[in-house]
Amino acid sequence: MKKFLTLLLALAMVLSLAACGGATENKYNTIEAGKLTVATSPDYAPYEFYAIGADGTATLAGFDIELVKYIANYLKLELEIIPMDFDGVLLELANGSVDLGVAGISPDPARAENMDFSDIYYEGGQAFITVKDKANMFSDLASLNNPNASVGAQNGTIQMDLAQQYSAKADIVTLTKATDIIAELVSGKLDGGYVEYDVAVAYQVNYPELHIVCEVPYEVEGNAVGVKKGNEALLKGVNEAIAACIKDGSFSKYVADALEQASGNIHEGLLDNK
Ligand code: ARG
Repeated sequence: MKKFLTLLLALAMVLSLAACGGATENKYNTIEAGKLTVATSPDYAPYEFYAIGADGTATLAGFDIELVKYIANYLKLELEIIPMDFDGVLLELANGSVDLGVAGISPDPARAENMDFSDIYYEGGQAFITVKDKANMFSDLASLNNPNASVGAQNGTIQMDLAQQYSAKADIVTLTKATDIIAELVSGKLDGGYVEYDVAVAYQVNYPELHIVCEVPYEVEGNAVGVKKGNEALLKGVNEAIAACIKDGSFSKYVADALEQASGNIHEGLLDNK
C-alpha cells in the first residue's frame, strides 16, 4: 500500500509538472517564453525617437514603438524594447538574439538571408536633404552626384546604398545615427544627406533650416518588421497583429500622434544641446 501511495504521489508530481510546462508553453518560440524581445534605433522620428516630457525626461516614442506595443499585447507577450544603433538592430536580428527588429526597416532583399520580413505596415519614400544656405548646391536627382559635396547616410541603411548610387562622386560620410546627419547638416559639416522622406519632414519642424531637395527613387517600397529568421509562428502572429492594428484604426492614430509628438522637443545624441 505504501509503495502504491509513493507511486501515486510520483505520478501526481509528473502530471503537475506537465501542467506547469503547459502554462509556460512557448507558443511563438520567442527567445524567452512569454516575452517579446525587440531591438530598435530611436534616432528616427516619427518612426522611433526620444520625446522629452515636460519634466525633461526622455521616453521612447513613435509609431513603430506603438505598433510593437500593440503586437506584444495582441500576442499576450511581455515586451522588452532594447534601443541601439540601426546597424546593431540588423546584427542582433542576424545573430538571432532578438525576436523582432522594429526600426523603419526596408525589406531589402539583401537582408532576407538574415531575417524574415513581416507584411509592409507603412509606405514611406526616400529623400535627399540639405540646409537652406546650401540649397543652390543641389537641384534635382542628377545634381546629387556633386564631387564638391559631402553627403551623409546612416551606417547599414539602404540610404547608404542610395548615396553610393546617386552621389558616387561625392564625399560619402557614414554616420552611426540618423540624427547625426541632421546635426552635421545644421552645424555645416555636411552638405547633404539621405533619409526617409517622412523623417526629413519630422526633423524639419525642429530644424526649419533643413531643406528637402528631392525624392529619391528606391525600388523596395515601404517598411516591415524584421522577424528572427525561421520563426514562422512569430511571423504569422506579427502579421495578424499588424493587420488588426491597421484594420481597427489604431495604426493611423499612432502615425498622427507620432507626427504631433515629433513636432515637440525631440532629441537623440548630438541633438540634446538644442
Ligand atoms: N529604411 C532604412 C533601412 O531599412 C533606414 C532605417 C533606419 N532606421 C532607424 N531607426 N534609424 O535601411
